[in-house]
Amino acid sequence: MIRNEYARIIDELFPDANDPAVVDAPEEALVRLLESDDPDENALLFGRAAAVRDAHCGSRMVVRGLVEFSSYCRNTCFYCGLNRANRAAERYRLSADEILESARLVDGAGIRTIVLQSGEDGYDASELARAIRGIREHYDMAITLSVGERSREDYALWREAGADRFLLRVEAVDADLYRSLHEGRELSTRLECLETLRELGYQVGSGVMVGPPGQTTSHLARDIRFLASREFDMIGVGPFIPHPDTPFGGAKPGDVGLTLRVVALLRLVTRNAWLPATTALGSMDRDYRVDALKAGANVLMPNFSPVEVKKKYEIYPGKRCVTERTGACAGCTEGIARAAGLAIDWSRADSLKMERRLPAT
Ligand code: 5AD
Repeated sequence: MIRNEYARIIDELFPDANDPAVVDAPEEALVRLLESDDPDENALLFGRAAAVRDAHCGSRMVVRGLVEFSSYCRNTCFYCGLNRANRAAERYRLSADEILESARLVDGAGIRTIVLQSGEDGYDASELARAIRGIREHYDMAITLSVGERSREDYALWREAGADRFLLRVEAVDADLYRSLHEGRELSTRLECLETLRELGYQVGSGVMVGPPGQTTSHLARDIRFLASREFDMIGVGPFIPHPDTPFGGAKPGDVGLTLRVVALLRLVTRNAWLPATTALGSMDRDYRVDALKAGANVLMPNFSPVEVKKKYEIYPGKRCVTERTGACAGCTEGIARAAGLAIDWSRADSLKMERRLPAT
């Protein structure tokens, strides 16, 4: 049943699907919407979010090919299976030529964005630049990097080599919560990296996990306010999934319903950010990616890592599609879009926020 107070908050904050973004939604109102798991109230929230997505982004799902090119990591993030203290993790690193081979498969599937992701490997900057130049030269596709915190010089080198976009989740905007998830790391470093990436002209994506130990709905409300205010081009959100070989191995997984509400609220506050239905949402007791698309998400990232390394990139256990032939995930794409009632957009789909950032002429 939809309570009056709930409907009032939604109507006041988000009156019409065509309205511009609400970057300063109050924390208490967001908490209230995050905390209700009433099915009717959630249906109202998700329906509004889907309508806003359709009005501001079109009724479409865009596709990005993901290539996980290194599982080495120098960090010890307590939630992540790739953290360097996990001796059980098998490590691998693809060369620039192997990355190019993956790009060929992405291209063959008709996908016009490649996402190159790795642990915080000290991957050789010039080798990655070589891969970027190779992709630029041979294929017509946007290049997104997701390799964590690096120096301004490295970010600049890759930008010059032809990288267009960068994903760096902030993970938590509360400095204490951030510290409790990342041993020896500081939120300020992460914020500086995000700033640098923007200055260098990358389209920048960020995001958070839902449900790691110590996170409250008040934290999430502040994360949402932060993500909206920084005008990120893309925002990825997925549930925390405990990995047995990490310090958080015994913790409870993140709540799927809460994750979907975070996605829906991000849609309502950002209007035109690209929001993926993340692999983590596809890797729970069942696949919730269609649910995310029905709650305002509009991006799918099928996995194009070589099949022999796929299962070694184990951020969390139970990751979807790790045994499928490379590129087979692209086949699911059509079924997922159809189930969500969305058309597939195979274009490179650059940021919908870029025009707003161009200097006035
Ligand atoms: N469960 C869910 N998501 C995780 N990530 C890392 N470890 C986990 C986990 N155990 C997310 C982080 C990271 C992204 C690549 O994956 O948010 O930024």
